[in-house]
Amino acid sequence: MLEEQGIAIVDRDRNGVDRAFRGDVLKGLRQRQKAVPARWLYDDAGSQLFEEITFLEEYYPTRAETEILTARGAEFAELIGPDRAVIEFGSGSSVKTPLLLSAIEPAAYVPLDIAGDFLREAAAALSAKFPQLPIYPVEADFMRETALPDEVADMPKLGFFPGSTIGNMVPRTATDLLRSMRATLGNGGGGQRPLLLIGMDLIKKRRVLEAAYDDARGVTGEFNLNLARRINRELDGTIPVDRLCHVARWNDDDARVEMHLMAQGDLSFTVAGESFRMSAGETIHTENSHKFTRRSAAMMLQAGGWSPVARWKDEKKRFCVILAEATEERGAP
Ligand code: AVJ
Repeated sequence: MLEEQGIAIVDRDRNGVDRAFRGDVLKGLRQRQKAVPARWLYDDAGSQLFEEITFLEEYYPTRAETEILTARGAEFAELIGPDRAVIEFGSGSSVKTPLLLSAIEPAAYVPLDIAGDFLREAAAALSAKFPQLPIYPVEADFMRETALPDEVADMPKLGFFPGSTIGNMVPRTATDLLRSMRATLGNGGGGQRPLLLIGMDLIKKRRVLEAAYDDARGVTGEFNLNLARRINRELDGTIPVDRLCHVARWNDDDARVEMHLMAQGDLSFTVAGESFRMSAGETIHTENSHKFTRRSAAMMLQAGGWSPVARWKDEKKRFCVILAEATEERGAP
């Protein structure tokens, strides 16, 4: 059962330019440390390159998380119970979703994504796999509190946020998102508190982390450089892409892998009519991928209003999936 909700949410000017993209890029390039928010890496070409990344030998997170979701179905069913509405935040192509849905007997599935076409295609494919399951796709920005379809209002909720996407956010934004998920999932559902099943990547050796974001075949480099190409294409830019190189480095203070585009010489270019310069070695920061420990993961969840109730790692202990419950409001020291 596939129901339509959707409204288009990309705001374009009369030339078809995505205003939010232009705003973010210009603001980011004016900064001392140039930076562009990571979400803009994922246009069609970028999403396809990311898909390719997930099959790379060096990029372990997807395989590790899939291993956990495959192996732990019975435990999920036990702890989560049947008849919840599963709300997936940033569902994308929903590849990991069947693993969860077939484990827990949900009452409904609500994929929530900003990319409408992708969303509806993925929902249709899932509907073919689970013909009995009511599916209500919602085209929305998961960073904001979102009204869920009326049909699921009274059902207990399970939020699903795999892929360590939370790792793309700095702690403050991650906390905002966790709080907004808590608001979206609400308190309804027959007095059963909402649950959240979330994937997070773990801190490990620098060499392993950096290789995961700088593969030998250069796919991740292409993924990163695609952002500069996208800027040139969509914002009438003149960035000399062949004079930028991909850099992935572990920032130990902030516990994250950073991706940058580094200028190989002094550069000047324009974007949307505005001029910019980079000197040799200067970078544009394009993505963060935060990594966690058991305690840092728990701390962040607690800060966002979620209390961990269970946690699973893959065989090689590289990645974890955490089940958390909306923290009860009560007086505490
Ligand atoms: C999609 C956010 C999970 O941070 O590991 C992969 C994105 N960037 N290689 C990650 C990514 C470069 C990925 N996430």
